[in-house]
Amino acid sequence: MAVAKPTAHFPAFENESGKDLHPTKALIKRLVETYGPSGHEEKIRALIQDEIKGLVDTTRVDALGNLIALKKGAGAGSRKKIMLAAHMDEIGVMVTHIDEKGFLRFASLGGVMPLTLVGHRCLFANGVIGAFGRERKDATANEIEMPRVFIDVGARDAHEMPVEIGAAAGFWREFADLGNRLIAKSMDDRVGCAVLIETLRALKKSPHDLYFVFTTQEEVGTRGATTSAYGIQPDIALAVDVTDTGDTPEGLTMAVALGKGPAIKVKDSGMLAHPGLKNALVATAKENKIPYQLEVLVGGSTDARAMQMTREGVPAGVVSIPTRYVHTPSEMVDFDDAQNTIKLLVKFLSEPIKTE
Ligand code: CO
Ligand code: ZN
Repeated sequence: MAVAKPTAHFPAFENESGKDLHPTKALIKRLVETYGPSGHEEKIRALIQDEIKGLVDTTRVDALGNLIALKKGAGAGSRKKIMLAAHMDEIGVMVTHIDEKGFLRFASLGGVMPLTLVGHRCLFANGVIGAFGRERKDATANEIEMPRVFIDVGARDAHEMPVEIGAAAGFWREFADLGNRLIAKSMDDRVGCAVLIETLRALKKSPHDLYFVFTTQEEVGTRGATTSAYGIQPDIALAVDVTDTGDTPEGLTMAVALGKGPAIKVKDSGMLAHPGLKNALVATAKENKIPYQLEVLVGGSTDARAMQMTREGVPAGVVSIPTRYVHTPSEMVDFDDAQNTIKLLVKFLSEPIKTE
């Protein structure tokens, strides 16, 4: 018997069924279905590079793999350097051990919760798909601890193993279009990448030099944003990422809900947003009648933390896309929120920015 030949069952990235979708939904589908756990962003970076072709003046890839695209400002006057960041990486797992029977043990890449694994699938770079199983001996159904979870790639033993120690996998689930609501693994932060790409597409011109940075390794500690922000030395920094919501049964006590507009960050567990920048975003939303929410996130942070703390400090903020079930294989967003985030960014970047 042959072990699944790598790529034999590889899920198609350019899925034909995406063609009858709204173009932004089709873009989100392409992005979320592409492989790219932290530190393994080559495929997702190549896809984004392709999507932004012709929309920017220059692109480069730095040592940590960040994709840095510059759209130069137009017109005279004081020109600000603005860094926009959305992370390309997704949470995932990495093989640490292969046993005689061909079962894999793993370490997590980013904030993977054991509760979300069992019965789900993961996808390796070579196209191999694995199922997460758990040890059942002496365990009750509600005891799921990471060390007792394993991956089964269908190998009969360790000798016909199609992946090796150090191989990384992301979750594997298809994109689902429910109409206004969309579900996918890796909405965190591919929906942010989609928002940046669509912002580039919609933005006629800006008085500012705009650095659109698709960052790496956010989920393991905002490492890509740390080095790219240091290199760019922005005057203003803005992350576009997902945030939790408080709108599900017995959910978090949090004043953010799906469908009520982009969430303008006030605070999370890693940063306090620059108040002037936060107020400027709110003013833009109000002037343009774009719905928005104010966000205080108790657990978690974003690339904005790294950008804010670079060099001698940078005014930094975040525009968040409200997302249910963050860090599970079924992250849910509202399509109107995504579109309103694009609208807010286009308006914000088209005008001079006052953060005093
Ligand atoms: Co995340
Ligand atoms: Zn994120």
